[in-house]
Amino acid sequence: MDDLKVNKRLIMTPGPVSVDPRVSQAMSNSILGQFDYEFVDIMNKTMELIRKSFLTDNQWSFPIDGTSRAGLEAVIASIVKPGDTVLVPIIGRFGYLFTELVKRAGGIVHNIQKPMGEVFEQAEIIEALDTVKPKVLAIVHGETSTGRLQPIDQLGHACKERGIYSVVDAVATYQGMIIPVDEWELDAVIGGAQKCLSIPSGITPITFNDRFSEEINKRKRVELGIRSNESTEQDHFIRSNYLDLTQLQDYWSPKRLNHHTESTTSIYALYTGLKIALTEGIEARAARHAYHQEGLKQALKALGLEIFGDETNEMKMVICVNIPDGADDSKFREGLLKNYGIEIAGSFGELQGKIWRIGIMGYAIEKQNILTFLSIFSLYLAHQGVQNLNPEKAIDTLLAYYA
Ligand SMILES: Cc1ncc(COP(=O)(O)O)c(C=O)c1O
Repeated sequence: MDDLKVNKRLIMTPGPVSVDPRVSQAMSNSILGQFDYEFVDIMNKTMELIRKSFLTDNQWSFPIDGTSRAGLEAVIASIVKPGDTVLVPIIGRFGYLFTELVKRAGGIVHNIQKPMGEVFEQAEIIEALDTVKPKVLAIVHGETSTGRLQPIDQLGHACKERGIYSVVDAVATYQGMIIPVDEWELDAVIGGAQKCLSIPSGITPITFNDRFSEEINKRKRVELGIRSNESTEQDHFIRSNYLDLTQLQDYWSPKRLNHHTESTTSIYALYTGLKIALTEGIEARAARHAYHQEGLKQALKALGLEIFGDETNEMKMVICVNIPDGADDSKFREGLLKNYGIEIAGSFGELQGKIWRIGIMGYAIEKQNILTFLSIFSLYLAHQGVQNLNPEKAIDTLLAYYA
């Protein structure tokens, strides 16, 4: 059998994206036992970095082993018991994911919906909170399927005032913009690894506050075999074992409950990725994403492409463009990847075949890569026979922006 050979790529999708070599190096360190004092020290330091990354004092800031979907599912499975009502605003595919997770937890979902490419006014969501009176609001911050940023800064407070729990999918916005969890009074927030944080997928930083913790602990159950005297068993215990946040709290605290075996290499990656991000600075990192997003967007417009969706609520880490007449969605993306090692993404559902999504996320986002991307993308697109494109003007626009 051949040795593993992986070719060089310029990944311009909304994740997974390229990883800083310092993260890959960190992952090649020796494996430590999960209760080795050195590893426990790294775990505690990782929790502290997660707190800083979310701008929170929440004690409960730790990673879930699994991709971001596991983080979302852990939060939903722990807070939603059968019969609980959850308000889920939909602005794209990932609102449907929350809907699905709530239903699987036995919750009753109330959806409110916007046409793809739009977001809600926060007042509309607050009005729905008053009408539906849910136990939980589950909302997507950065909806990568449409490239929209849902404003949420007033929602945590509005939920708290009404005794509702706010749960936020910040998978795509985490470390690409500032998300001040405490200032926005959010109860539970889920970040992402393989997007703006730029580490391999498979681990998911989350944070939740004491109010949320008290509520989920009403359904605490510790499995037989590791159960101690003080463990309780409730009627409505949390149905998931692996994604039970209350058992995970005992794992990620001095109790060190032997729940699962932590992924050592993923923790090395998360620790190092967070160190890199926080050394750059959350504000500076957010500014870097916004800066390159704006430059590339101007250049793509100069090329002759139309930007999809309402630009006033765009994510600064994804650019969505309408696929121009004459270009075949999958054929073009496949050609770009096979011939030039560059990857962009299509979309889902009703936007499939209509838009391309270009990710501006994390480590690789710097002038050289953006210019390389634009040059190859625009010339290759023109080469496919798409009419009325102006690659020279596009490149000129980006050079002028960077100058
Ligand atoms: C907004 C959003 N939420 C959730 C997910 C699911 O993340 P994962 O694929 O890591 O499980 C994604 C992934 O693309 C996403 O963009």
